[in-house]
Formats: sequence, C-alpha cells, structure tokens
Amino acid sequence: MRHKVYTFAYYWFILLFFQGCSENIPEKRKWIIGFSQCTTDDDWRKTMNEEMRREVGFYRNLNPELIIKNAKNDNRKQIQDIQDLMKNKIDILIVSPNEATPLTPIVEEVYKKGIPVVIIDRKINSELFTAFIGADNFEIGKEVGKAAISLLKNKGAVLEITGLKGSTPAIERSAGFRTALQGSKITIVESREGKWLPDIAQKESEKALQNQHPDLIFAHNDPMALGAWKASLKAGQKPFIFGIDGLSVKNGGLENVLNGKITHTFLYPTGGDRAIQLAAAIYTHRPFKRLTTLNTITVTPETARTLLLQGEEIKEQQSKIDNQTSLISELTYRISRQSLSLLLAGILIALMAVIAGLLFYFYWKKDTVNKALDIRNTTIVQQNKKITEQRDHLIEMLKIAEERYKSPELLSSSLSNNNNPLQAEENHKRKTNFSLFHEKLVLIVESNDELRKTLSLVLKKHFNVYSAKDGKEGLQLSRSAQPDLILSDILLPVIDGFEMCKEIKKHPLTFHIPVILLSSLEKNELVVKGLDIGVDAYLSKPVDENILISQIKNLIASRENLYNTFGTPLFPLKNIKTTQKEEKEFIEKCVEIIYAYASEEDFTMDTLAHHLALSRSSLYRKIKEITEMKGVDFIKKIKLQYAANLLMNTNATVSEVAWQSGFSDVKYFSKCFSVEFGILPSRFKESEKNKE
Ligand code: FRU
Repeated sequence: MRHKVYTFAYYWFILLFFQGCSENIPEKRKWIIGFSQCTTDDDWRKTMNEEMRREVGFYRNLNPELIIKNAKNDNRKQIQDIQDLMKNKIDILIVSPNEATPLTPIVEEVYKKGIPVVIIDRKINSELFTAFIGADNFEIGKEVGKAAISLLKNKGAVLEITGLKGSTPAIERSAGFRTALQGSKITIVESREGKWLPDIAQKESEKALQNQHPDLIFAHNDPMALGAWKASLKAGQKPFIFGIDGLSVKNGGLENVLNGKITHTFLYPTGGDRAIQLAAAIYTHRPFKRLTTLNTITVTPETARTLLLQGEEIKEQQSKIDNQTSLISELTYRISRQSLSLLLAGILIALMAVIAGLLFYFYWKKDTVNKALDIRNTTIVQQNKKITEQRDHLIEMLKIAEERYKSPELLSSSLSNNNNPLQAEENHKRKTNFSLFHEKLVLIVESNDELRKTLSLVLKKHFNVYSAKDGKEGLQLSRSAQPDLILSDILLPVIDGFEMCKEIKKHPLTFHIPVILLSSLEKNELVVKGLDIGVDAYLSKPVDENILISQIKNLIASRENLYNTFGTPLFPLKNIKTTQKEEKEFIEKCVEIIYAYASEEDFTMDTLAHHLALSRSSLYRKIKEITEMKGVDFIKKIKLQYAANLLMNTNATVSEVAWQSGFSDVKYFSKCFSVEFGILPSRFKESEKNKE
C-alpha cells in the first residue's frame, strides 16, 4: 500500500514537472496579418508586398504571419478573399480595395467584428475603418495639372487615360487634375478608362488618337503611360506623356522618364512598410495616426537619374537588410533548437535529482525502520527477561506455598492443638527467613484483669507485650505502638472487639496488623460475623497456650513473608525511611487523607494540598524530600497499597477493589498493580487466600 502511494506520488511529481516545463515555454501566440491586395500583377503592387514582408521581419517579437491574398482586379474575388482571411482568425486586416463601392460592406463587416482594419492606397465609401495610409491623390492630380500648364505654357489639348473608374485614386486624380486646369486654356479633349492596365490603356489611346492630336496624354499610372506612348508611336504622334508612380524598377516610371518615353512621372509611394508599422502599433495598443498621408514629388528628366540612383542604392540596402534578416532567422532558429536541448538537459538533470532524492528517501526510511525494529527487539528481549524473572519468582512462591500447606508440621500447627510450636517456629525461620519473635510486639486487649495478666505473662516469654483494658484503649495503642499482632477479647467495654477490629482494619496505620479474636461464642457464628471486618483468626476460650503461641507466630510470620515476597513493603509506614518524627507524622497524615478519599478517581495533588492546607508546590517539595518520589507517584503508590490491603483483608473482587481505590479502569489498575508489586491483583488475592 505504502509502495503504491510512493509510486503514485512519484508519477504525479513527474507529471507536474513536465507540465511546469511546458508552461514555461508556451507556443508564442501568432500575430496574423491578413492583407487583401486588389492585384499583385504590377510592379507597384509587388513593391508594396515586398516592403510589407521586409517590415514584418522587424517584428519577430510579435511572432507575425503575413497572409497576402491577390484579388486579381476582381471585386467579387476580393470580397471572398476577405471572408477567407476572417476564417483564418486574422488579428488585423490590411486592405487595398479594388473598387470602393463593392468592397465597402465587407470591410465594414470586418471592422464591426472588432478586427482592426487598415486601408492602404485605395479608399472605401465609409468611415468604418481603423486607419488609412496613402498619398493624397487629389493633390497629385493637382501637381500633374500644374506641370501640364507649365509644360504646355497654359494652352493645349489633353487626353486623359484614367484608372479603374470605381477606384478612389482614379476619381481623385481626375478631380485634382481638373481643379488645377481651371482657368487655364488647356482642355481635356477626351477621357478614356484604362483600368490601371497598360494594354487597355494602349488600346484606348489608339482609339482616341484616331481623331485626336493631344499635346499631352495624362495616364493615371506609369504602366498606362507606357501603353499611351506605344499608341502614340503607332499613330505617329509625339505628345507629352505624364504618368504616376515613379518606380525605380526595370521598365518603371523613372527609367522611362530617363529614356524619354514618358515626359514626367510623379512619385507615388506604396506605403507597404508604413502600413505594417501602423498595424503593429494598433496590435500592441500603441498610439497611432488614423490618417497618414504619404509625400509625393514630381519627377522630371533632370531629377529622374538622381532618383533612380537613389532607388538603386535603397534596393541594395534593402537586399543587405534581407540578408541580415535571413541570417537572424537562421540564428533564432538555431538558438531555439539549442534552448530546446538545454531544456531537455535540464529536465534530465531534474529527473535524476528526483530519482536520487527518492532513492535517498527510501534508504533513509529503511534505515529508520531497521533502527526502530532494533529498539523494539531490545525492549522485547528485556521484557522477556523480566517475564522470565517474574515467572521464576512466581514458581518459587508457589513452591513455598505448596510446601507450606503440604508440611504436616505446619498443617498441624494451623489446625490442631497437638503440634510443637518450637518446631513450627523453626520451620518458619527456615522457610521465610523470619525475624526473631521476641522482637515482635503483641497487643493484648482484654477487660478481665486476671485474664489479661495471665495472657501477658504467657506471651512475654515469646514476644514483647502491650496490653489494653478496653476497645478504645486498644484502638489507640494499635495506632501509637504499631504492634505486630493484636489479641483481643470480643466482649469489651466502650468499643467491643468486632468494632475495634473493624476500625483497625479500616485505619491506614493499622489495617495490616493481624487480629486474633478470643471468644466463648461458637466458631461458625464468629466466622460469619467477622467475615467482612478482616478478622485474621478466632480462638475459643479457654485458650490452649501452645495453640495461641503457634497461631500468633504463624500470623506474624505470614505477614513477614509478604514483605519478603513483594520486596516493596505493602504498608505505607514501613516505607518511610525518615527517623524524623515530624516527617513521619506528615506522611501519616498524607496517607490518612489519601485513604479517606481513596475511592475518588479525581483525587490529585491539588486535593491533597487542599486538605493539608499547603500549596501544591510545597507539598510536592515535601513529599520529594521525604520519599524521593514525585507527588503523583506517591499518591498512586499509597492508593495501590490501599488496594493491596483491601485485597488482603476483604472479600472484595479485583474490580471492586479497583473502584474503591479510585481506578475506574480495571485493566489500568491491574497494570499499575503488577508494576508496583510484580504480581497481578487477581493472583495476589488468590495467594493471599491460600496463605490464610
Ligand atoms: C497599381 C496601381 C498604381 C496606382 C495605384 C492606384 O495597381 O494601379 O499604378 O498608382 O494602383 O491605386
């Protein structure tokens, strides 16, 4: 499962990594420029296209793509071309409309769609466009008129060969020309439509020259001027011929002015480069001029050479620029390829780093798991050792118990009168390493003076003896003298023997002291009555001396055995190392309080401090000083001792004892108990029962 998670995380990481990489090198958005040309058949249009292509090369950063459509002088084709360009999702439309009226609706449509429209050279009949660029054809017409007046000295006949009638340059050039001629003696004898094309212009000129002898032919462009020259030649006439465009190409306007075929031409710049500059400004949201008028100049035979030379110079520069541009393209391509290799190398290195990282992680993980297993192993070995020790200890205990109850001497000393107390004593000494009995203190509680003295005399041979006359005195002495055993009559003044025994077994300072009750009552009755109060033995009056001594010694030895068996003294006061009276009393007080509230689960250091009228910290310090234990451990220890005594002295079950000692969780109680005494409470209870 864990392996699967790692594998999933690994592939996910790789995926993210590549996704991240691909995001870093996005396919740069293209800037698509759609150019709808009315025609590309003549040199002037070719020059315009060329200028555009060259200029686009300067905007590599915009990732431009120039699509040029050739309408072939056909309005319908041009409309279709524009529709096709729109389908190509162009960012901008540059259009040089064949004729204004038929093209206006489609150009407006594009503009209304939000696509910027740049109109070049020829206009439309609408203001719905983004920008216009071109020379002022009306002004050129006027310049032509002025030149004619000057050349013809203000009088003469003119033949006009116009461009396509529906195209705005033709209309404006005518209008400008006529405006200039106003007031002169020059008349336009005939005007024919040459449609911008040399062949048509030649034919129309030929037709006109059949009847006319013009002094000057004004053709609206240089190709048509050449057509007119050919017609004049054919007709044997030698009129001045004016054209417009002034291209410095082979057989262009400048050349034909120089070789005398055309008299004058007028420079009519194409504006191709300027149109791209305008489009770029619009695309990149830079400020731009909505209407750009290109300059024009008159070319005479005198200026034609200079202009031609200049034109050639420009062409040379342009071809150099073209070379540079193609070099730059190549370099850019190479760089992009190299960056791709670099990127791939980067990805490879990153991948290797990821793999190395994962390997290191898995190795580290394995190492950590191994270390954890080692620690667990050591713990298990230690626990095993402890369990083995405890098991051996238990086996030992069981053996002792078995031997003790199987031994005929001990059996007889416990059950009959006919035993030898000395022999019993010897057995105890041998098996339990008992202390000498004469050091043991026996408290006799007997109201009958005679009997008390007799008992005292008998017992003094074997033990230290204290005596009390009634239950109350007996109770006090049990606490102050801490005897090893109490021998009491049942019928006592003030407090009877049962009551006193009950108090002794309840009190933390005395509950561990074995109590033998002397009675003249039936033994069965006594057993029932004393069942709940923890009486250790009953003896009937009159008492047999030997039985009495044997019983006393047995009980003392049995308690002594408990100390030896559990190592940890079960009895709080035996646990205090201090000899200081005050400290001893303080601990006694603590024990008393803990016992009094033993059943309260939430008994804490604060509770104890409250009852002792001490601050928590000083209580903590004091306990630590005297017992070398933490407060909580001390409380727990006392509670467990309380529990041990309940198990020992009452018939309560383990669960009942746990609750009475303030442990709500019996399992936890058993755990704490076995940690404290090295035996489970259930086994402890059983072993206690067997001892009795
Ligand atoms: C080229 C041309 C030029 C002329 C212009 C007018 O197609 O005919 O010769 O100046 O168009 O639009």
